[in-house]
Amino acid sequence: MIDSPSLRQRVFTGLKPTGRLQLGNYLGAIRPVLDLAADAANDVLVCVVDLHALTVEHDPARLRADTREMATTLLACGLDASATLFVQSAVPAHTELSYLLECTATYGEMQRMVQFKEKGRGNPSTRLSLLTYPALMAADILLHRTDVVPVGDDQRQHLELAIALARRFNARYGEVFTVPRAAVQPAAARVKDLRDPTSKMGKSGADPSGVLFLMDAADTIAAKVRRAVPDDDPSLTADDPARPGVTNLAVVLGAVTGRSAEQAVAGLHGAAALKAAVTDAVVDLLEPLQRRHRELAADPDAVTALLAAGAGVVLDEASHTLDAARGAMGLLTRSDR
Ligand code: TYM
Repeated sequence: MIDSPSLRQRVFTGLKPTGRLQLGNYLGAIRPVLDLAADAANDVLVCVVDLHALTVEHDPARLRADTREMATTLLACGLDASATLFVQSAVPAHTELSYLLECTATYGEMQRMVQFKEKGRGNPSTRLSLLTYPALMAADILLHRTDVVPVGDDQRQHLELAIALARRFNARYGEVFTVPRAAVQPAAARVKDLRDPTSKMGKSGADPSGVLFLMDAADTIAAKVRRAVPDDDPSLTADDPARPGVTNLAVVLGAVTGRSAEQAVAGLHGAAALKAAVTDAVVDLLEPLQRRHRELAADPDAVTALLAAGAGVVLDEASHTLDAARGAMGLLTRSDR
């Protein structure tokens, strides 16, 4: 049997601890990671990217709590057995490589990022780190010699920048980085808010009534789905841009039950039936996960130990990659100092 780490495919993804994980995070990123982790050919790293949470106004105590809560939820999703989970700031090489990549990227590239334009451009009190955020995200990915990055559609542009920076760095300074590729789940790349189905479902939005959080109780899920926007047309459709509410529920039902949106709505009649099916499917998905979360939350020291072990797994290799990047750029390396 061949058991060489270099023959395994490295998978990396990051999730930002700003608020609680929601169904879009699960369908767009967590489940694709779990699927990849089920294959022994993949070596999967999942990172709670706490440094990214500092790019916007934040409360320190809240961030600490959200970081632990996110780690606990990710473990409850099943990542404890099949992946290495760690917190970004526990691996300082992320920030150092980020600086080297800031020196590889341009101001123009950073300014063009849609998320920067939406969240901060033109506002003098925007944190500078919001502009440079994509360099840190590229560092997250390139530091771990990542082959595949499962993400939702909203991260595609950041990922394309990471790919461009890896290529540019390698061409200019020598082959240091693996050039990654995106794995965007076609079926659930952009789950929409139930109340505003033209916008993305998000964990930190002002109005949580259209967001299904992974830890929502069954009756909360039922109430939120009941109030989801459908329309007056009693027929159902799986893909109609003019009917974004119905399309979104069909996509969610399909993704949660492992079918296409078309298959999911076939045989259902009317919005009430669709909503009942969505509620049942989401509750079925989340119940075991919530049970596991309760067990893990009762033993916070075990979670701390798992995170420390995760950081321990990646620290050494990360510092080697960082040192290779440092040396290629003309900085002294560990062996020179
Ligand atoms: P974040 O924390 O906003 O979201 C985490 C993951 O969830 C996906 N996602 C969605 N997918 C489908 N439908 C939705 N409504 C939805 N909402 C969120 C996101 O696309 C993402 O995959 N910048 C990243 C975190 C990050 C990262 C990285 C990701 C930092 N470094 C390196 C990959 C690799 C972010 O803010 O994701």
